[in-house]
Amino acid sequence: MGPDVVDIRTLYSRAGVFTYDPGFLSTASSSSKITFIDGDKGILLYRGYPIEQLAVQCDFMEVCYLLLNGELPNAQQKTSFDLTIKEHTMVHEQLARFYTGFRRDAHPMAVMVGVVGALSAFYHDAMDISDASHRELSAFRLIAKLPTITAMAYKYNIGQPFVYPRNSLNYAENFMHMMFATPAEEYKPNPVLARALDRILILHADHEQNASTSTVRLAGSSGANPFACISAGIACLWGPAHGGANEACLNMLEEIGDESRIGEYINRAKDKNDPFRLVGFGHRVYKNFDPRAKLMRETCHEVLDELGLHDDRLFKLALRLEKIALEDEYFIARKLYPNVDFYSGIVQRALGIPPSMFTAIFTMARTAGWIAQWNEMISDPEYKIGRPRQLYTGATTRDVVPLALRT
Ligand code: ACO
Repeated sequence: MGPDVVDIRTLYSRAGVFTYDPGFLSTASSSSKITFIDGDKGILLYRGYPIEQLAVQCDFMEVCYLLLNGELPNAQQKTSFDLTIKEHTMVHEQLARFYTGFRRDAHPMAVMVGVVGALSAFYHDAMDISDASHRELSAFRLIAKLPTITAMAYKYNIGQPFVYPRNSLNYAENFMHMMFATPAEEYKPNPVLARALDRILILHADHEQNASTSTVRLAGSSGANPFACISAGIACLWGPAHGGANEACLNMLEEIGDESRIGEYINRAKDKNDPFRLVGFGHRVYKNFDPRAKLMRETCHEVLDELGLHDDRLFKLALRLEKIALEDEYFIARKLYPNVDFYSGIVQRALGIPPSMFTAIFTMARTAGWIAQWNEMISDPEYKIGRPRQLYTGATTRDVVPLALRT
């Protein structure tokens, strides 16, 4: 599986030699048993299971269990895991006060970096990262509370009261309830839409050593607590070249606005003097197709069918853009295909979720992968603090000139 691997630890480091690999294009930062990707063949496996099977046959709770434990749960294990997560969906009332310290128009990701990081101030009872039961409890807490924290960020933003979790609902339904119920009106989750959200969560749950997961591992390698590490991951995920892409993609589609302007934007994306890139196209690892994008495209059709939105302006525009780009020499030569974010924004928009929340929902999903990766690292008796080397390109030694003599 995978390319030829040279373990340079003993070869180079003892000889005082190191490699220079900006962007980690060919350097593995860790070994892992969690997720496998073959970018050329468009394969994504969680713990050996193809994403296509997991997305269709399992729910997000089963996938969380799989990522954390290495095996899919049996029926009894699933019931017990569901119940455990439901036990932890509430957040401390004191935490709710944190929100009022933020401006209402703050980006939800800015709020989430702060609030998730603040969880470490609430759970002193399970902070011993050398204790497997403490690590497990932190994982349960994070997976259970992320939907509550995310929905609270939304409610605060729109000026509505927070909605408490409802544990009779499943994970995706409960999130939609906390997002859309109001004191004046109950929210009845539509099973097709809840299933679509659940699929978004499955498809985004893990993706091996991407930038945010590497951030979580690097932060965790110093022994930092899991809430602080996940907060670091959230900060990284927010970047437009990573998790911010689905929001940016929808904004781009809105900006293009009409099929007649697609050519103009394609030309801009090809122009090397213009920093503009076609958001939702290209991937560091998938150089053939993104298997998640295929599944998301199907989900997109199911949701639009359910809601009778076949003529949805943005979806039609997206399909047209996809067709034109896939036939364009520039995109063909560089193997630039739509990534998962290309469609997930359209699905979320159809679910009634505003673009500013897209990356926050990605965060909810990826928390499962982050905490599984963090736990895998901490459980490895050989793990070391991450400390990349650098290639120094600055000034050579020079003497300080007294202030009065400096020009
Ligand atoms: N539009 C136009 N040209 C592009 C695009 C794009 N979306 N993506 C890559 N290219 C071009 C580059 O300009 C470069 O061209 P060159 O060889 O002529 O210089 C070539 O394709 C290779 O690009 P790199 O930046 O080297 O590819 P890399 O693998 O480093 O980048 C990335 C991957 C960051 C995802 C990039 O494709 C991109 O910026 N895409 C748009 C943002 C996006 O959709 N991000 C979501 C990623 S998926 C996720 O996080 C879940």
